[in-house]
Amino acid sequence: MNGNRNIHLIIGARPNYMKADPVYKALAATNNFRLTLIHTGQHYDHKMSQLFFDELGMKTPDITLEVGSGSHGAQTARILERYEQVLLADKPDLVMVFGDVNSTIACALAAVKLHIPVAHVEAGLRSHDRSMPEEINRVLTDKIADILFITSIDARENLINEGCDPDNIHFVGNSMIDSLHSFSDHFDESKIKDQLALGRDYALITLHRPSNVDDESNLKKLITALAEITKTLDCVFPIHPRTRNNLGRFGLLKQLEANGRFHLTDPLGYIDFMRLQRDARIVITDSGGIQEESTCFGVPCLTVRDNTERPVTITSGTNKLVGTDYSRLPAEVEETLATAIKSGLVPELWDGQAGARIAAILAKYDFKQFFKYFNSHR
Ligand code: UD1
Repeated sequence: MNGNRNIHLIIGARPNYMKADPVYKALAATNNFRLTLIHTGQHYDHKMSQLFFDELGMKTPDITLEVGSGSHGAQTARILERYEQVLLADKPDLVMVFGDVNSTIACALAAVKLHIPVAHVEAGLRSHDRSMPEEINRVLTDKIADILFITSIDARENLINEGCDPDNIHFVGNSMIDSLHSFSDHFDESKIKDQLALGRDYALITLHRPSNVDDESNLKKLITALAEITKTLDCVFPIHPRTRNNLGRFGLLKQLEANGRFHLTDPLGYIDFMRLQRDARIVITDSGGIQEESTCFGVPCLTVRDNTERPVTITSGTNKLVGTDYSRLPAEVEETLATAIKSGLVPELWDGQAGARIAAILAKYDFKQFFKYFNSHR
């Protein structure tokens, strides 16, 4: 049925790949759709992009937009302009966007302006912090999307409060956690711990939020706090390009390199990173996805932010918000290590089947219900 319906799946930045891959594979397995994978090129370094295609066995994108880096306005505008040309040429039946990156809102906007229906995977998450670029991307994408796939039930309430039609909201679970399940057998194959000569106990650190790493004084305080933590624990720190640029610019890299208990690396591939995360004593992060993965691994996570759009990782999982008074971070680590590890519960439907649920729902969906207001130029 409907084997010719053409769905565009949009990827652009690192966190998109592990969210989109299970959905792509589940849709492909139904033979119900013609799938077109579009990479905007928001991330382009080998270690932020191609490496994941190799590791996840992901299909090479059918179309790449090669937009590269830029200010928010410039990057979003470039994606919008280039993707519109693709839409006009290909006229898909549905565009699927993932997460909250600039590629998500730009492609959703290009599609709805041409009256092409949009499905948003990971809809309804809210930090209620409008200074986060991702929050703007989430709110706007959900407002214009036609089909909203949510990862946790709190998202439904957020969407309904914002006036979304409850009939278009589908609780399917977390497709990023599908990837964790599919690849978990491979985590032991990683040699990363030997390569870094790591002992049993270590902290895994990731930091890339503009609010933490773009401001010189904040980044200095953060590095000082991390240096304090290395007095008791080795710290593995895969450095995001944004963070590396800033550490270099503010003259902080040498201080890190001189400390033998920091294990600094370039951005890591999926399997190496998941191995490090699974086996860590504690994770310190400002990422969204890592709050979710560490919850599934049952590894304590300290989130260096004042808010989270993923409250279920705190209410059910292992996550704790420690705020941005960085001087408190060493004490938070000490306290977490000293107390019994919060065991955490894996949130509802984070069971590896989100992609299959999305595919089953879309197989029955009549996309034409959204066409009533636009059929004219198809
Ligand atoms: C983006 C997402 C963020 C996500 C993060 C994961 C937005 C608004 N932000 O942030 O939600 O958590 O990806 O990594 O979409 N750069 C490179 N090589 C690359 C990509 C980037 O060197 O392949 C450098 C460039 O100097 C660029 C900077 O990193 O200016 C930031 O990249 P950008 O894509 O703008 O945002 P991220 O901080 O990666």
